[in-house]
Amino acid sequence: MWGGRFAEGPSSIMREINASIPFDKALWRQDIAASKAHAAMLGACGIVSAEDAKAIEAGLDRVAAEYEAEGVPEDWSLEDIHMTTESRLAELIGAAAGRLHTGRSRNDQVATDFRLWVRDAIDQVDAGLEALQRALVMRAAEHADSIMPGFTHLQTAQPVTLGHHLMAYYEMFRRDRSRFADARKRANESPLGSAALAGTGFPIDREMTAQALGFDKPTANSLDSVSDRDFALDYLMSAAQCSLHLSRLAEEFIIWASQPFGFVRLPDSLSTGSSIMPQKKNPDAAELVRGHAGRIVGSAVSLMVTMKGLPLAYSKDMQDDKPPVFEAASLLSLSVAAMTGMVAEAQFRTDRMRQAAELGYATATDLADWLVRQAGIPFREAHHITGAAVKLAESRGIALEALSLADLQAIDARIGEGVYAALSVEASVAVRASHGGTAPVEVRKRIAEAREALGMG
Ligand code: ARG
Repeated sequence: MWGGRFAEGPSSIMREINASIPFDKALWRQDIAASKAHAAMLGACGIVSAEDAKAIEAGLDRVAAEYEAEGVPEDWSLEDIHMTTESRLAELIGAAAGRLHTGRSRNDQVATDFRLWVRDAIDQVDAGLEALQRALVMRAAEHADSIMPGFTHLQTAQPVTLGHHLMAYYEMFRRDRSRFADARKRANESPLGSAALAGTGFPIDREMTAQALGFDKPTANSLDSVSDRDFALDYLMSAAQCSLHLSRLAEEFIIWASQPFGFVRLPDSLSTGSSIMPQKKNPDAAELVRGHAGRIVGSAVSLMVTMKGLPLAYSKDMQDDKPPVFEAASLLSLSVAAMTGMVAEAQFRTDRMRQAAELGYATATDLADWLVRQAGIPFREAHHITGAAVKLAESRGIALEALSLADLQAIDARIGEGVYAALSVEASVAVRASHGGTAPVEVRKRIAEAREALGMG
């Protein structure tokens, strides 16, 4: 393809280090689509004859059919998907194939293909996240009243409901989807026609190719267009953020499934056994989601480091942009699918959750709040009085509400009989009806809003 200026061909090392076909063949659909759009535009603008344009488009369809049926051949000497396709096109249609590359370069070609690919990846992950959100909302509705301990520092803090806990993840994935949507919007400009770096002297119509490929408009600066990988980084950083959320959810399932917790039975379909310990059911899928997050974050870091020192315009370093994006996309889509299955099919052990909520003095704050409300005691003082009550109960190994009124009044005479009603876990969650709070009535409002947003009727 560039042989004219060379006396010698590339060494085998050169061929191997240069070859991107082993991974960029994943771009073949986008490459064919972009080439067809370019050929049609060349024909429409009279840059190639209508006849040649037609022959090129029909030839590209044949190449696509071959790829579909047999896969993309991997010839390292053809370097990448762009040359592989063009060379096969030449075999199929002859000399007209050589006119396809008029007014474009592989630099704008790869930027275009890759944007199209990332756009599809965003659409796919968005659909996956929507399914995950639906699963969360369904389970949350089932468990709007199921009481469990809420934790801070992984120490029992205050009772919450399982529905409230699951809806926390609904919110995280809502933000993730909005980050992906935002990335998609910025990515959706067409670099095609920027050519190698400076634009082209041929009278091309960039609006036409942009439109044909579903882009909002052509990019504004040819140098930027072939040098920019922000769109891939936006995607990777959104993916990294999303993977952190998936990993935290996975981590909760891992903890909840452990025997001391026993909050959940994981679906058999997403667990594995042990080859030596017959009783084992291990949360491998969740652990791998947690592990994959590390690799997805690594992908984002990898491309950032690749890009950080590159002068304008294209440098071959940028060929290394694709493996991290491809890897992140496939790990992310598997992780989303695994967590969707986990959420949808887990058996929550609400009896165990409730029991745990009743241990650990989860309603101590409610005692302090009662003193504030009923006895007009400043919160700081109420906190202190309650601390003494917890200390006494703990020394006897009993729950707060198991202390007698006489015991409580010995700590502070202003405590009255009415306090017991405030100390149940039900009362504790019911009272937290501030906007976004854990009270079942509030959680149901949020669930209704979520159902509406997801079109769940
Ligand atoms: N295979 C290359 C890549 O993936 C595209 C070709 C870039 N053009 C060039 N001159 N070297 O980045």
